Amino acid sequence: MKKIEAIIQPFKLEEVKEALKGIGIDGMTVSEVRGHGRQKGHKEVYRGQEYQVDLLPKVKLEMVVAASRVEEVIKTVVAAARTGKIGDGKIFVYEVSEAIRIRNDDRSEAAL
Ligand SMILES: Nc1ncnc2c1ncn2[C@@H]1O[C@H](COP(=O)(O)OP(=O)(O)OP(=O)(O)O)[C@@H](O)[C@H]1O
Ligand SMILES: [Mg+2]
Repeated sequence: MKKIEAIIQPFKLEEVKEALKGIGIDGMTVSEVRGHGRQKGHKEVYRGQEYQVDLLPKVKLEMVVAASRVEEVIKTVVAAARTGKIGDGKIFVYEVSEAIRIRNDDRSEAAL
């Protein structure tokens, strides 16, 4: 299993969620976060306005999926979240050692 963490532009959340639903990804955690990439201190456009601030609002999606689905999920997120402009976001992939469904003790991929 792997955890895919995608940091995206907030206005892309619905499109990304729909695309993930379309490939059968059910479980996810979504958080509102703030961050910056390599343009620290430079202007970035957000909702048509130029910001000169260090930390911009972003949305973080976390999904734990079977390792065999990682590339498919990455492709789906990238296709839905890309505008081609700076600040589109980033995806990080982590190893996950275990998953447990609390309700019934399902383990590993059965718990996803
Ligand atoms: N190295 C990193 N570690 C942790 N979070 C990061 C890292 N790089 C980017 N992020 C997060 O991703 C968000 C979007 O990053 P962003 O797309 O601006 O990356 P970038 O490297 O500056 O690429 P671009 O040149 O396309 O803007 C940031 O606001 C931050 O929350
Ligand atoms: Mg950037």
